Amino acid sequence: MPNVKDLETQQKAFENWRSLVARFGSPLYVYDLDTVEHQVRELKQALPTNAKVFYSLKANPLPAIVKTVQTAGCCLEVCSNHELSVACNSGISIEQILYSGPGKTTEEIGQAIAIGVNHFSVESYTDLDRLEKAAETAQKSIRLLLRVNPMEPLQGGLAMSGTPSQFGFEESVLLNGAQRLSQLSSYVEIIGYHIYYGTQIDSEESLIKSFKAGIDCTERLTSQLGFTPQVIDLGGGFPWPFANQKSAIALDNLRSRLEQLLAQRKYTAEAEIWFESGRYLSASSGTLLATILDIKPGKFDSKFVVLDAGINHLGGMSGLGRIPRGYVLMYNLSSEQEAWSTETANEGRTLVVGPLCSPLDCLTRKTELPPSVNINDIVAIPNVGAYGLTASLVAFLSRPAPLEVSLRNGIPVDLSSLRTGHESLQFLLPEPENLSINITGDSIREQYA
Ligand SMILES: Cc1ncc(COP(=O)(O)O)c(C=O)c1O
Repeated sequence: MPNVKDLETQQKAFENWRSLVARFGSPLYVYDLDTVEHQVRELKQALPTNAKVFYSLKANPLPAIVKTVQTAGCCLEVCSNHELSVACNSGISIEQILYSGPGKTTEEIGQAIAIGVNHFSVESYTDLDRLEKAAETAQKSIRLLLRVNPMEPLQGGLAMSGTPSQFGFEESVLLNGAQRLSQLSSYVEIIGYHIYYGTQIDSEESLIKSFKAGIDCTERLTSQLGFTPQVIDLGGGFPWPFANQKSAIALDNLRSRLEQLLAQRKYTAEAEIWFESGRYLSASSGTLLATILDIKPGKFDSKFVVLDAGINHLGGMSGLGRIPRGYVLMYNLSSEQEAWSTETANEGRTLVVGPLCSPLDCLTRKTELPPSVNINDIVAIPNVGAYGLTASLVAFLSRPAPLEVSLRNGIPVDLSSLRTGHESLQFLLPEPENLSINITGDSIREQYA
């Protein structure tokens, strides 16, 4: 049960959200940049003092959020040229950017190196060949982290390592091909390792286990490969609730336990430690406000609440089954009542659906509709500042993306809109020689602007 102060804060937030919808329309994503800053402080406090923290733009590349995390002291991890341009526009110095991802193309690597990116994570020997060639062509030096998929499996979270996955070198493959590492061009320096065990790791204990497994792996590799790493990127997986108000896990002992683990290193003792985080930093800042368009009875006593936001705006990846959906919580801003969630004591027959023409467009099912909820009410879904809009099926049914407004002290300081819909490139057809293999909507717009 929230205390009086929490209720007062909540009522204030509700009033503000109502007025924001009146100004900017519905649906609307609202981000609280003060919360982003708070989360950066919390995570830094939970990690060893001299560790670097990278914000992963995949969680939310909204420029206002990226600028906030980097101003608060984070480096940036990017996986595409668009994420890179957002990172650069945040004012960060380019050496503080790490470019990673399993499918980097020759063109994007070339463009990144051309503008001065010099830290990359390498996913395979093919990726290494591409990076090396691009560095030689540009005659620029690059520093590489070998991303490794360790032998050791782990439980608890969406595993991306320690299991068959497309991410990184299999540990044995890296070792078997190690001769290649002694034949590098003078433009390439291997500076360390990158391990990312998984996202949403569900407890402090599991986080520690994953970091221990990562450290063990880099110790093994260092003893066998015989080069001393300057950097070990231990990844992260720091969890945060998605679209509900479950408690975040406490990270009270993480720093001291990590310090103990790191102190036991034998071969990698001098290496700087990096971490990566997306959701822990941005999830709690974001709330999706939506309007109830319809409430109608269905077969077998079911009831459907139709919102103006669906899996095109939220939970697209959970709709596809990659992210556990958990339960969705909604605050009805039109009444003073408490939150309405799918995890009510009595399961009901109400489904909350979006406006798309697909039965998959369901945000939550088996809930019970409180009697005070009405058509035209506004609902608020919390903890969706990570893997919200850009992780959704934004182009499905071609509805416009919701506006995204960012607040400081409750006051709007930034307003953005994600572009959707086709743009005609018909004008290029008479001169197909203008089409390069590097053609993308973004590069064309820049070229012909
Ligand atoms: C390599 C890597 N780094 C960082 C992240 C960010 O994860 P999270 O948002 O859970 O912190 C991911 C997520 O998949 C990832 O694959």
